[in-house]
Amino acid sequence: MLRGRRDRHHRLGFLVPFAFATVAAITQPFVGHILGLRVAETQPAKLAAFELAETTEQPAPLRLGGVIIDGEVRYNFDIPKIGSLIARNSFDKPVPGLDTIPEDEHPPVNLTHLSFQTMVGLGTLLAGSTVLFWLARWRRRDLTQNRWFLRFAVLAGPLAVVALEAGWIATEVGRQPRVVWQVLRTTEAAGDSPRIWWSLTGTIIVYAGMTTAAIVTLRSMARRWRAGEHDLPSPYGPEASA
Ligand code: HEM
Repeated sequence: MLRGRRDRHHRLGFLVPFAFATVAAITQPFVGHILGLRVAETQPAKLAAFELAETTEQPAPLRLGGVIIDGEVRYNFDIPKIGSLIARNSFDKPVPGLDTIPEDEHPPVNLTHLSFQTMVGLGTLLAGSTVLFWLARWRRRDLTQNRWFLRFAVLAGPLAVVALEAGWIATEVGRQPRVVWQVLRTTEAAGDSPRIWWSLTGTIIVYAGMTTAAIVTLRSMARRWRAGEHDLPSPYGPEASA
């Protein structure tokens, strides 16, 4: 367990970003839900893939997990009616199934569904953990002193990146085979300019450089800390004499 002034520094270092993370994590499901309602109207094929809806169901269940194999939904766990609630804001509106959409307009269904559920699952977990933290604090339990919560907090950073990538995959793969629904096919939009390699290479070099610099800096700070230099300069930290 951490003690004294070091303890206060660490707790503040945790609480400030965690307060921002709380606002973001709790806002996200609401924003996501509003986006989802729009998808029902503007991109029904994507919604059918998000919800793994092979056929139209009214009311539609919330389908957890599952994949479509040979036109059949398998390995799923359904919660009745909740699909309609989440996708349509109603207990009885239908979620139109993939069978209402021509076969050559279907996105890759399993990848779209699983990445969508990865995003929403992680989003729910992250939002839930912030609620848990503040509830515990309200009941005078300080989870910054709980090793398991701190381990989870370390994991939460990479998990948020996974949620971000999954959200992007769900959005982009779910729109296939088009880049603009009903207007432009991906095959019509894709370019073959050789100059694309220059911008891709440039981007990779810049980001690899920034990642390396971040890792080197953090490792050197950790090394100095372990070597006993506990009063490392921290411009925004509490007064050293506090
Ligand atoms: C917990 C509940 C969440 C819900 C209900 C939700 C819902 C949605 C929906 C419906 C879309 C699709 C929009 C479209 O295709 O038009 C979307 C996209 C996206 N989501 Fe989530 N989401 C949630 C959490 C998260 C979290 C935690 C992250 C990242 C940390 C995230 C990152 C993204 C990203 C990057 C996109 C793609 C946006 C774009 O490229 O236009 N989502 N989300």
